[in-house]
Amino acid sequence: MMADQLWEELMLPEKPEIVLVVDDNNTNIKVLFEFLRQFGYKILVAKNGEDALIKAEQGQPDIILLDVMMPGIDGFQTCERLKSIPELKEIPVIFMTALAEPVNKVKGLKLGAVDYITKPFQHEEVLARIQLHLKISKITKILAKQNEILEQKVTEITVELSQSLASLQQAQVQLVQSEKMSTLGQLSAGIAHEINNPIGFLAGNLDFLTKFINNLIEHLQLYQEALPSPGEKILRHAEEIELEYLLEDAYQMLDSMREGTDRLRQISLSMRTLSRSDTANKVPCNIHEGIDSTLMILKHRLKANENRPEIQIIKKYGNLPVINCYAGQLYQVFMNLLANAIDALEEATPPHPTNPNTFSPRKIIIATSFHRESQTIAISFLDNGIGIPENLQTKLFDPNFTTKPPGQGTGLGLSISRQIVQKHGGKLSCISTFGKGAEFRIELPIE
Ligand SMILES: Nc1ncnc2c1ncn2[C@@H]1O[C@H](COP(=O)(O)OP(=O)(O)OP(=O)(O)O)[C@@H](O)[C@H]1O
Ligand SMILES: [Mg+2]
Repeated sequence: MMADQLWEELMLPEKPEIVLVVDDNNTNIKVLFEFLRQFGYKILVAKNGEDALIKAEQGQPDIILLDVMMPGIDGFQTCERLKSIPELKEIPVIFMTALAEPVNKVKGLKLGAVDYITKPFQHEEVLARIQLHLKISKITKILAKQNEILEQKVTEITVELSQSLASLQQAQVQLVQSEKMSTLGQLSAGIAHEINNPIGFLAGNLDFLTKFINNLIEHLQLYQEALPSPGEKILRHAEEIELEYLLEDAYQMLDSMREGTDRLRQISLSMRTLSRSDTANKVPCNIHEGIDSTLMILKHRLKANENRPEIQIIKKYGNLPVINCYAGQLYQVFMNLLANAIDALEEATPPHPTNPNTFSPRKIIIATSFHRESQTIAISFLDNGIGIPENLQTKLFDPNFTTKPPGQGTGLGLSISRQIVQKHGGKLSCISTFGKGAEFRIELPIE
């Protein structure tokens, strides 16, 4: 009900207000009855405390005039009983006492009465007090009701607000994620395309070059056979250029160049797999291919150098069915989880250890499995890096939560990843012991 309506109801009472008069004295009752009736009140009468309680319950009066001195339970006791009954306790009670009676007025007010009137009655005063307390009682009721309405409104608004905050945050994460994906995706698709041609002619020419060098060497050997003593100048030059080793080295160089172009080709292929994968539509997707491509892109961070030992990748791939998914997005989850694992391993190894080999081998175990009963697949990334303190474990997936220095982490990786996994109807969870490592586990339904 609106506030205006409530006030309107207050100002225009629809039915006559009920006054319960409780007194053992017939004359008093009569006087009050005759007088109050003129003003449109409906009068109920009780002659003792017990009777008053019954009448109050049956008649639901709007106000009670209660004599203090009565045989049986007195006015104070009656008031106490009235105030202990939830349906009656809000009805205002006015005590009536004879001027000469030595009653403790404070006691009555403490028991919950609202006022006193003294006998013999001054009619105008009785009326004024009844009107005043009826009004106060109504206003109190209306205020309580308004308060209730307000509280309900506040609760509703709070719920609405927190819902919109949550969806705003989600929208922000999605925006960042799709923005990041589209720029990164376009960029890497572009790079993959651009380096593809040069890789092609490097690899092609390398084959020819090998053939040419073979021919040249053969030709040289023919010369050496035909001219066993070619003269001082040629012999000295052969020595200068270390002809014997040069021929050996040339083959080794060609081999490593071939290795280089092979790796470039794999990187370009992986970039294409990752960047061209559909992010907007579900497509049949090979999880292992996605993980392998991601590893290929991250390979430079896995290799050993003078500051750190290598990171071993241990694959425990199970037999997975092909599942339909937003491949590009899911591959991004692999990228986030693997990059985090590498960061955690990096953090566990001091930057310039005197002997990197004294550290326990740095490992990431990647395990996949198919669970027939639940029709789900599980993909887990387990590292033996720094781990996560228990008090931070609940915060990991919050947008913007990061422990990395500015510029190194945005704190969005895990929250984006969880959203993507949830979009597939799956779960992304973390188990970790601080100082020992962490496991991030993706569970996906195959449908
Ligand atoms: N494998 C892990 N081992 C230890 N801590 C981890 C691991 N993965 C995540 N964390 C912790 O969780 C935090 C949040 O990770 P999240 O990927 O969301 O953000 P980030 O890596 O800090 O930044 P970015 O947005 O660049 O990914 C990290 O800062 C790190 O403290
Ligand atoms: Mg991260």
